[in-house]
Amino acid sequence: MIHFVKPCRVALVLLSGIGFQMMAQAPPGQTPPAPARHVGGGLGSEYKAYDAATLERGKKTYTANCAFCHGGNAKGGESGPDLLRSLTVLHDENGEMIGKVVLNGRPDKGMPKFGFGPEQIADISAFLHDGVRAAAERGTYKILDIMVGDAKAGQAYFNGAGGCTSCHSVTGDLAHAGSKYEPVDLQQKIVMPREGRGRRTASDKAMAVTVTVTLPSGEVVNGILNRMDDFAISLVDQNGDYRSFSRDGDVPKVELHDPMNAHTALLKRYTDADIHNLTAYLETLK
Ligand code: HEC
Ligand code: HEC
Repeated sequence: MIHFVKPCRVALVLLSGIGFQMMAQAPPGQTPPAPARHVGGGLGSEYKAYDAATLERGKKTYTANCAFCHGGNAKGGESGPDLLRSLTVLHDENGEMIGKVVLNGRPDKGMPKFGFGPEQIADISAFLHDGVRAAAERGTYKILDIMVGDAKAGQAYFNGAGGCTSCHSVTGDLAHAGSKYEPVDLQQKIVMPREGRGRRTASDKAMAVTVTVTLPSGEVVNGILNRMDDFAISLVDQNGDYRSFSRDGDVPKVELHDPMNAHTALLKRYTDADIHNLTAYLETLK
């Protein structure tokens, strides 16, 4: 019997779903298996303990390949976002979500792809999950205790020092933000807005990506970006006319101005208290 029970417990820890089925079929009277543990460092789960060798390998691979952009402690660097606050990392369980990003990259956003094997993905994921745990336990990021912020202070910051109103409005683009997003997702949007609302259009003037195209003739065309790839660029010019140009390397010359860069630059000014206060405030916008 011992021979059967032991591997069964191991399987339960590794594959909790299958483990439950086995448990249901276990004959009555048998010692109940150890409580199922939520594998991985996902949000709201128990933090998983990783062995030191895994973490050490993960740290090495991370430091050599990722630290350059995401920072030595994964809290964000020159060009890559904070991974300890990343929803991808928080919702990841066994490296599936992290692996997807790492293996495919996001070339259009500046994240290259890596040809890693499953072990390297597992090691890096362990390293990142452990970083989330350490940060949470140190109280660096109170991710699970998000509503500790002061909504009044958040409102004052939003309208004042934060400068948020130069691009946002709580009756416009951020109206009902509190109904639309869970607090943790809202915090994530403040820290790293990116996904969700499709392409910005000419109606959101303050937030649209604008573009200056300089043609070989010297003609300069300014407008709001419609789309761009290696072969063509299209925009809506100041008269509201749609214009498109084919591209051949640097001809015509294209300069993009993305207000998202300003939002991102603001991050360096926020304290954790600002972020908690802003989250608490925006969460009141039902
Ligand atoms: C050249 C810079 C660069 C390098 C090197 C890099 N990244 Fe990134 N990474 C980025 C950028 C920029 C983004 C944000 C992409 C976006 O906005 O969608 C990103 C996004 C991510 C995300 C998704 C975050 C989220 O919440 O959406 C994960 C996970 C990630 N990187 C992990 C890694 C790992 C692990 C490595 C090393 C194997 C790595 N990155 C190396 C630049 C980089
Ligand atoms: C220079 C302009 C600018 C400033 C200033 C700015 N943001 Fe943003 N913000 C943006 C842009 C651009 C987006 C992306 C919107 C999109 O992609 O649709 C964004 C997205 C967001 C989102 C996500 C909205 C959504 O529905 O996805 C939130 C929340 C947010 N910003 C909060 C803030 C807060 C809080 C401040 C002040 C501390 C601030 N922003 C300052 C430009 C700015």
